[in-house]
Amino acid sequence: MRFLLTATSLYYILAASASPTPLVHESKRGLDLNAVNANWAAAYSKAKAALTKYNLTEKVALTTGAGWQVEGCVGNIPAIPSQNFPGICLQDAPSGVRLATEVSSFPSGINTVATFNRDLMYQRAVAMGAEFKGKGIGVALSPMMNIFRAPAAGRAFEGSSEPYLTGVASALTVQGIQSQGVQATAKHWLNNEQEHFRDYSSSNVDDRTQHEVYAYPFIQSIVAGAASVMCSYNRVDNKYACSNPELLNGLLKSDIGFKGYVMSDWWANHATSDALAGLDMTMPGNKVYGNAPDSYFGPELIAAVQNGTVPQSRVDDMALRILAGWYLLGQDKGFPAPNIWSWDFNDPRNKHVDVQADHKKIIRQIGAASTVLLKNKKALPFKKPRSLALIGSDAAVNPAGPNACPDRGCNNGTLAQGWGSGTVEYPYLVDPLSAITARAKQDGTVVSSSLSDTDLAAAAATAKGKDAAIVFITADSGEGYITVEGNQGDRNDLFAWHGGDDLVKAVAAVNRNTIVVVHATGPILMEAWIENPNVSAVLWAGVPGQEAGNAITDVLYGATNPSGRLPFTIAKQRSDYPADILYTSTEEIPQINYTEGLLIDYRWFDAKKIAPRFEFGFGLSYTKFDYSALAVWPYASKGGPRLTTDPTLFENIATVTFILCNKGPLEGTEIPQLYLEFPKSANSPPQLLKGFEAVSLKKGETRVVKFDLTRQDLSIWNTNAQRWVIPSGSFGVSVGASSRDKRLKGTLVLW
Ligand SMILES: *[C@@H]1O[C@H](CO)[C@@H](O)[C@H](O)[C@H]1NC(C)=O
Ligand SMILES: *[C@@H]1O[C@H](CO)[C@@H](O)[C@H](O)[C@H]1NC(C)=O
Ligand SMILES: *[C@@H]1O[C@H](CO)[C@@H](O)[C@H](O)[C@H]1NC(C)=O
Ligand SMILES: *[C@@H]1O[C@H](CO)[C@@H](O)[C@H](O)[C@H]1NC(C)=O
Ligand SMILES: *[C@@H]1O[C@H](CO)[C@@H](O)[C@H](O)[C@H]1NC(C)=O
Repeated sequence: MRFLLTATSLYYILAASASPTPLVHESKRGLDLNAVNANWAAAYSKAKAALTKYNLTEKVALTTGAGWQVEGCVGNIPAIPSQNFPGICLQDAPSGVRLATEVSSFPSGINTVATFNRDLMYQRAVAMGAEFKGKGIGVALSPMMNIFRAPAAGRAFEGSSEPYLTGVASALTVQGIQSQGVQATAKHWLNNEQEHFRDYSSSNVDDRTQHEVYAYPFIQSIVAGAASVMCSYNRVDNKYACSNPELLNGLLKSDIGFKGYVMSDWWANHATSDALAGLDMTMPGNKVYGNAPDSYFGPELIAAVQNGTVPQSRVDDMALRILAGWYLLGQDKGFPAPNIWSWDFNDPRNKHVDVQADHKKIIRQIGAASTVLLKNKKALPFKKPRSLALIGSDAAVNPAGPNACPDRGCNNGTLAQGWGSGTVEYPYLVDPLSAITARAKQDGTVVSSSLSDTDLAAAAATAKGKDAAIVFITADSGEGYITVEGNQGDRNDLFAWHGGDDLVKAVAAVNRNTIVVVHATGPILMEAWIENPNVSAVLWAGVPGQEAGNAITDVLYGATNPSGRLPFTIAKQRSDYPADILYTSTEEIPQINYTEGLLIDYRWFDAKKIAPRFEFGFGLSYTKFDYSALAVWPYASKGGPRLTTDPTLFENIATVTFILCNKGPLEGTEIPQLYLEFPKSANSPPQLLKGFEAVSLKKGETRVVKFDLTRQDLSIWNTNAQRWVIPSGSFGVSVGASSRDKRLKGTLVLW
């Protein structure tokens, strides 16, 4: 109690002070399971009342997609006119509205996590939610939260990082999308961490790792109120995820207490009996890829109820969960009808409703805030250079147009999205060449360019004698149904594409101020040139969406002081990573064994004492920050083991505060990160990320930064008790600028 009074009074004295800017940094945070449970209870009672009037055929209609390309969205629950139910439109995906016009191309999930900025994560989702709603889309098939396990994983760019960062980003994305009245979908449940063999491989994960790593972001999303969960294509423990009672009825619905509905990934429903495992909705409705008018649900589910193989109570529950999700978001009241036609933009059913509003502002802001400055030998920000050379095909939009390849399935021209179903049609794409050229005019800078990746002589000739040469290189990946330059979704290697290393070397051989910009869906290996003294600056810019050129220009010129941080480790060699893609297998069911357990990404480098090139959480700024006065304030007892459904698991029980000061020459944003060393008895990785904030400070400004720790943050999954338990002993607390740049240390002891 003494601690409680001290911590809160310090906090309120500072928060209430007369300063025009609050002295305590606060951001969007916090999950409240009691509030979410109350919302579900209200939605359930509305759905129950409505369903008393539904007969079996109508209940089954709620569970069965219309079929592929039958209606305008990628997934559709048809209207039920007898019940005045208007139907539901479901549409991809994680970076905006797919297969539509007059929409925005948002920064990818990997850029969103690279901001380490809760407010931006939320605002991006609010803007995306508004676009889905404006198109009449009731269910956004987002966020994607499969963990960044293998760095070459094709779809990792759609969302993920390690569990804590992914969990925060996913929960805020759910809250942002749902703030607009659109249902969010947590996907892909579960262990869909690679593209090769995803339709039939089995991911095998131990129980503790499953809870602490892979299910973790789903738990956060469900506690944030996610209306739906999508089960994945792959098998888990040799049973298909959508046919897996342990995974659906067990872990998801019983242990985690998910109250919404489970939809299948597209054609991932394998039998009518999947309903018994816990599948509630089949998507897109028909059995296999194509548009045959069959279904495992629909008439076959009705027949299964009639002959007693599926109990009526199960169909009642399926319909209840689906209708409750609809009521949860208030979609019974004036939700717009779908106005898109995904299959032909010129079809009159595509109404071209412009939903972009001013979203380009937040897209540009996130693009800049997600750019990670990895190296800077006084090269940046630019100070009125006389001449600049821009080198590489990534500097300019594909001459065939930014949307020339369906689902962005090529790496031609500047790279601002990966490929697959997690893509959108660009409304426009600002490339670096046009954005930098426009900015350069203000200073009278002469800009020249060489857009070939392979004409090294032209690159060198263009770069020679210029004040600075910027080399743009890429690495792309995506979903496995498209193969790009021999990469079947997952990347074949971690090198820059199109001979990017040779391009950098050719330019650095002639220019002492060679700046490398990396547009990539994940980490790339940089050993070929990273220590070259002529490589004066390096930036990882991810896949930032439609404002790519403006975003990188903002960082190069210092309009935005870089604050992006690596959401993954950049290794010196591929074999340093703990896990890799399984590319070949002779097994009928390829077994993907997650043998690294809890030791993904930085946890492995820490445990095995491997020096990375750039560690997780790393990123430079143009200013300097000073950390001081760490204080640790436990204020509640840890209590006993807890179920995932226990709302007290998500309560704060300790606070860590410290003072952050901007001691450098410029305004900027620092990303202090909190890592915990668990007590030895926990057998946890050496350190775990358990807090981060994006704190913007003017030159000379000081702020108290506050990290709240929940019971879950301090817990491990006890496989015997099948409960979350706070281990006995003291926790090491460190706060710093990356996973290896520690500035302050303390100890947390709970009673
Ligand atoms: C269910 O209700 C619909 C609409 O009123 C009706 O057309 C259908 O025949 C009913 N089905 C059964 C099995 O009663
Ligand atoms: C019940 O109906 C389902 C769906 O038509 C069918 O697959 C199953 O074989 C039937 N089972 C029995 C015992 O009749
Ligand atoms: C992409 O680039 C490749 C290689 O230069 C070329 O063959 C292909 O036609 C391009 N495709 C598009 C759509 O630009
Ligand atoms: C750096 O650039 C200069 C020319 O500007 C060149 O003479 C030198 O060899 C380069 N150094 C390296 C390591 O490439
Ligand atoms: C995965 O683990 C299983 C069970 O231990 C083993 O039989 C199988 O060979 C392993 N597969 C691979 C690809 O390592």
